[in-house]
Amino acid sequence: MSATPDPPRERRKFTVPDLARAKAEGRRIAMITAYDATFARLVDEAGVDCILVGDSVGMVVQGVPTTIPVELDEMAYHVRSVARARTKALVVGDLPFGSYQVSPQQGVESSVTLMKAGAECVKLEGGIAMADTIAAITRVDIPVVAHIGLTPQSYHRMGGHKVQGRTEGREAGGRDRLLDDAHAVEQAGACAVVVEGVPLDLAAEITEKLSIPTIGIGAGVHCDGQVLVLHDVLGLSDLRLTFTRRYADLRDEVVRATAAYAADVRAGTWPDEAHSFR
Ligand code: KIV
Repeated sequence: MSATPDPPRERRKFTVPDLARAKAEGRRIAMITAYDATFARLVDEAGVDCILVGDSVGMVVQGVPTTIPVELDEMAYHVRSVARARTKALVVGDLPFGSYQVSPQQGVESSVTLMKAGAECVKLEGGIAMADTIAAITRVDIPVVAHIGLTPQSYHRMGGHKVQGRTEGREAGGRDRLLDDAHAVEQAGACAVVVEGVPLDLAAEITEKLSIPTIGIGAGVHCDGQVLVLHDVLGLSDLRLTFTRRYADLRDEVVRATAAYAADVRAGTWPDEAHSFR
């Protein structure tokens, strides 16, 4: 069963330095995705520490099969909507595929775009290969959350959304390579690292060895924090992934409410007298 939520308490703004403080003090970090003002307001009110405006927007909002088609200007639009609506949660803006892989300079320019839209830090996928880019972005005082393991923008190299770190060795996706990736992003200056789709003992080892917080998704319980896609948590998507949990079944509620409305319209029972002007 899920834990009972803590009673509401006075919250202060969660900032980038709070990521390090949380790890030092053993406080776990709760991150969830949001892409628009309505949900940003609600998850902020629910008390999450961080809102990730993820490029998963492609799959859950735009209806495309991978995150690869998502564009930088689309991410800026969603970051702007979220940043306007939340008051306390840290806003993490996801750099989409093609907006930072060309060069560190391109990574800096794209990060500036998301920061101007209201992000308080950016996230990018990749380990050793992205170390120079992470260093370049942090050098201009833009905090970076790294993302290693199952990196959805590497969909075609991985042959799908596949769990990584199940083989030994330093080849792409190998266990030793992922440990090297984790150290590389820390040394490059990342303020946290998302660890996605890896065996829980590997995530535990990474968490223990790094001084920056690890945020897990499909990586077991030993990370310093967790992130999930909001639409999975609310039961708004049709996906049944083993590493997510539905905390509500809003999909069925949306269908029920919309069908009831359509039936009233067809029956001529909506709008009624009480909702009509004289
Ligand atoms: O885009 C996203 O939502 C993400 C999370 C799955 C970590 O990158």
